[in-house]
Amino acid sequence: MSTSGAALPAGDRGNGLFGVYVHWPFCAAKCPYCDFNSHVHRGAFDEAGFVAAYAAELAHFAALVPGRTVQSVFFGGGTPSLMQPRSVEAILDAIAAHWQIDRNAEVTLEANPTSVEAERFRGYRAAGVNRVSLGVQSLRDGPLAELGRRHTVDEAVAAVHLAQSIFERSSFDLIYARPRQTLAEWQDELTEALWLAQGHISLYQLTIEMGTRFYDLQRAGKLVMPGEELGAEFYELTQELTARAGLPAYEISNHAVPGQESRHNLLYWRYGEYVGVGPGAHGRLLIGNQRHATAAEKLPFEWHKKVLARGHGLTTDDILTWEEEGDELLVMGLRLREGIDPARFAHLSGRRIADRQVRELQAIGFVETLPNGFLRVTDKGWPVLDAVVADLAA
Ligand SMILES: C[S@@+](CC[C@H](N)C(=O)[O-])C[C@H]1O[C@@H](n2cnc3c(N)ncnc32)[C@H](O)[C@@H]1O
Ligand code: SF4
Repeated sequence: MSTSGAALPAGDRGNGLFGVYVHWPFCAAKCPYCDFNSHVHRGAFDEAGFVAAYAAELAHFAALVPGRTVQSVFFGGGTPSLMQPRSVEAILDAIAAHWQIDRNAEVTLEANPTSVEAERFRGYRAAGVNRVSLGVQSLRDGPLAELGRRHTVDEAVAAVHLAQSIFERSSFDLIYARPRQTLAEWQDELTEALWLAQGHISLYQLTIEMGTRFYDLQRAGKLVMPGEELGAEFYELTQELTARAGLPAYEISNHAVPGQESRHNLLYWRYGEYVGVGPGAHGRLLIGNQRHATAAEKLPFEWHKKVLARGHGLTTDDILTWEEEGDELLVMGLRLREGIDPARFAHLSGRRIADRQVRELQAIGFVETLPNGFLRVTDKGWPVLDAVVADLAA
């Protein structure tokens, strides 16, 4: 990939942040809790043909938003670690053929920690990936099996160590507040995880999503989840242990040593501009100073057909109203510890956040104004974030 170059401003509604999200929708098997756009393909599969479709979609977007500088690329899934390293390289080359790449660009690939996938890590590094995010999910074998994972704890730990030796930066994900899990068990597991982590860790409370096998099991009374109160205790314990270990939360579920935050995720939450390529990928593009919300066909082979026929797989391209932009800025930005800039909210939405609303939320300790003028949700307000956002947006 070529480097450097200054960012072209995306009109006065942009903030100079620009990234590319690449969605690889295939998985070796479907996990029973997952509602991401992931599919198991059977039989022969033309990976090179798919990669050519990503290149075509990138060319389509480059014509719409030329002259930008890419600060981050994120290969998410699905399971991008099923891709051949040469496919990753071809997509990165296609990105670099259209836009300047910042010399400090963060290039992340989401990987499942099986031993087979770990064998590709060096190839990904050579292709230009400089950060991996591993789906470890648990450091206990029983829960891993229950979560339908195809790796053991030993395999996952080996993959984390290997990733740490190959990539400049790495992170891994764990899922907690699982069925029957106790606080004491999570305390032990998370303590081990924080020893293992280098700089960044993502910690998600298990959510039961409609349409998943866990959803059916829960409805049938076969999956007993922690109640709201215990869930809150899990969350508090997580905040406490991560902060003590020097990886405080910079977002609801993401923790990092200051300076090691995921730049790509920050770009979403700071409401930057991003192209999304691949089946089901979403994007936010500034075209003629209007913010477009794009989404692509979710079914991989249907998406491929669409790209072959007309150069892109988009099924949605909506121009957001100012009000919608303001709402999105709040929903995304208030997840961040750094909070939001009320002046940018006013600039994008054409209205100010009502002083009375802020005062009321401040009085009950749910939000605070920082010395730089940013507004953020407090520790006390985070568990009720949705309600706080709704109040401020009203
Ligand atoms: C795109 S997904 C999976 C990436 C990769 N295929 C894997 O399985 O490791 C990203 C992360 O979302 C989290 N996740 C997915 N479904 C979840 C759920 N229902 N509840 C909580 N976390 C979930 C998992 O921690 C997962 O690693
Ligand atoms: S959790 Fe990961 S591996 Fe499992 S189905 Fe979802 S995307 Fe695929």
